[in-house]
Amino acid sequence: MVQASAPGKCILFGEHAVVYGQPAVAVAIDQRMSVELSLSNDWRIDGMSFHPDRHPHVEALKQRLWDLGPALSIKISGNIPPASGLGSSAALSVAASAALRCARGRQMVDDDWAEGWTAARPGSIYDGPWTSSKGDSVVNGADCVDEDECAILAHAVEAYAQGGRASPLDSSACAHGGCIVLSDKIEDNLNWIYTRSLNGVSWHVHSVDLSNIDDVWLVIGSTGIHAPTSEQVEKVANLIKEQPGKMREIETIGIVSRRGIAALMSGDMESVGRAMSENHLLLRSLGVSCPELEVLISAAAPSSLGVKLTGAGGGGCMIALTRNPKMTSEAIELAGGRTLISKLASDGMKIDNDGGTPLWNPYE
Ligand code: PMV
Repeated sequence: MVQASAPGKCILFGEHAVVYGQPAVAVAIDQRMSVELSLSNDWRIDGMSFHPDRHPHVEALKQRLWDLGPALSIKISGNIPPASGLGSSAALSVAASAALRCARGRQMVDDDWAEGWTAARPGSIYDGPWTSSKGDSVVNGADCVDEDECAILAHAVEAYAQGGRASPLDSSACAHGGCIVLSDKIEDNLNWIYTRSLNGVSWHVHSVDLSNIDDVWLVIGSTGIHAPTSEQVEKVANLIKEQPGKMREIETIGIVSRRGIAALMSGDMESVGRAMSENHLLLRSLGVSCPELEVLISAAAPSSLGVKLTGAGGGGCMIALTRNPKMTSEAIELAGGRTLISKLASDGMKIDNDGGTPLWNPYE
């Protein structure tokens, strides 16, 4: 049996403005999705027969990493609520990529990847399956699993499942963990990791080291309302068409995000919180908040450093940055929200069980 897991994410700064080229900041959260693989007589997911159209992410990964491989029984578990803007599908895709790669191994030529290498190159989008000539060795288990590869595969299959539209923010945060910044330019003061392009759009992906930050938590409050991201993005596009002056809000969100990033890097959490609350007011003025989000945000504010909606808005979730997670969580729950508590930047993808031997050797 092989098992891998990956975290969900939430957006600290820059949602919606990122669609217009401003930077967005996401952090990995403690809540995770886990994928367990074992050999089986027929393809199964959680004990039921596998239907490709019900599980488009898994199907797309199967085609890329397990073409002609033996049937598997796949078990999916986790504590990331689905369809709430917390990255559950990206976490599932990253964990499944990691588990499948671990279960098949990777061929090497001259100590380099014989396969998969081109996928990690800036600008490329993985569209496998990979084919390779015979290499001189095969690496198995956790050593052959790579965060970049999981991130690019997850981005490719998210785009496949969402009809070609997906930014690499979720897939990068869920694969690498920590704090990820997406921008339309390479940001001088940040650690650039790679550039991704899809359908003519390019994103530069950076990481920010938050390992020295402790004593502060995120409380995520869910309204329980499902509001599709595409509708909220369209709402903002229509608003800007009718009132071009609203572009100023988008640009100001960019300025606030950059200020938030600088505060994160210097560990000044009071300023991070202020920037989050300011970001929320700008999102509200773009029309993507809603009464239910406002109720949870008002309830959380007194015990928090900063509060804002997170993700697309119109429902979904809010976040509070707080030194009193218990108090903040209780306040949100009293106001009718469901809560999750997380550290600020959690660990990325992990192989939790490498199974000892590969489940399939495609290199014989
Ligand atoms: O709710 P999420 O996690 O899908 O975030 C949406 C973020 C937006 O900026 C609103 C849309 C986008 O594609 O970036």
